Amino acid sequence: MRELILGIETSCDETAAAVVEAGTQVLSNVVHSQTALHERWRGVVPEVASRSHTERILPILQQALADAAVTPEDLTAIAVTHRPGMIGCLLVGLAAAKALAWRFGKPLLGVDHVQAHVHTGFLAEPDLPLPALALVASGGHTALYLIHERGRTERLGTTRDDAAGEALDKGAALLGLPYPGGPAIQRAAATGNAKRYDLPRTLLGPDSLDFSFSGLKTALLYTLRPQGAPPRAAPPEGQELADLAASYQEALVDVLVQKLARAARATSARSLCLGGGVARNTRLRERLAAEPSLTRLHLVLPAPDLCSDNGAMIASLGSHLLRTGQVATLELDAVATPAAGGKAVVRR
Ligand code: KG4
Ligand code: ZN
Repeated sequence: MRELILGIETSCDETAAAVVEAGTQVLSNVVHSQTALHERWRGVVPEVASRSHTERILPILQQALADAAVTPEDLTAIAVTHRPGMIGCLLVGLAAAKALAWRFGKPLLGVDHVQAHVHTGFLAEPDLPLPALALVASGGHTALYLIHERGRTERLGTTRDDAAGEALDKGAALLGLPYPGGPAIQRAAATGNAKRYDLPRTLLGPDSLDFSFSGLKTALLYTLRPQGAPPRAAPPEGQELADLAASYQEALVDVLVQKLARAARATSARSLCLGGGVARNTRLRERLAAEPSLTRLHLVLPAPDLCSDNGAMIASLGSHLLRTGQVATLELDAVATPAAGGKAVVRR
């Protein structure tokens, strides 16, 4: 019998649903992004986001089933993000998932959003060589994991302040670029000289696999407006803007690459995979492919649409939960915080 899992994701500002067969074959992957709704606030407004999820969830679910040419009766189980995220947003997906599970008598699977990003590599490559390093870099999270096997991961390091995507979003705001900042900075950087501005690469201790991006953001602020100088009359433009964007992007990407190189040296990882919206970044992808200290690792770069928030990664990890008997009840709750990630482990 076919294993068909419906994955539902509403933890932040994407209303998403997908049908995945046998854990890794994506039959449909429908995402409605609310970016346009939140742009003027330069960030996600929880109440606006949850209202929009409520309006969109049913058509998105119908579309995901139609694209996959399956009916709710055909489904094996319903997987849904239940943590971490904004409570009002999570509750919309959870209510839909519970209603479907109850009405059609299907098992309900509660998926951790961050762990779903960590496991994205399996969607691109079901036989991912293990152990695998996974970098999750998004607007809310930036962390490095070692995947020992599906469902068993060890957090090696995490951010001590801003997430990488958050640093890009805030940097873009300083540069007068639109939200979300990651794609805007990538576009502006395309014609820029990344060497023009010398911005800091915060690596913390010599063995640390943690991240810190707040100093980079502050350095950009003072590059734009040196201490004691009057406010700028207008945001940068033309070549100055391109060079600032390129220098900022390069500093952030450099830190991610150097941390991955450290993690590769410190572990017996055989492959490297990415997840989270920042993993869409073309400069990061180029740098990883060219980095000499990473050539020993098998590099897995999932399609951009599997990196940013989506239902396929939820269905895929849901498949693992189903196969290992980790089925939820209709009591499943929304939880705002990430699951305890364990202490960051420094390996020598
Ligand atoms: O994973 P995601 O879609 O949502 C969260 O769980 O946060 O990630 C969104 C983040 C935003 O900060 C956005 O600026 C960033 O991913 N992002 C990018 C790119 N596309 C999205 N960052 C760098 N380059 C991109 N092309
Ligand atoms: Zn995410």
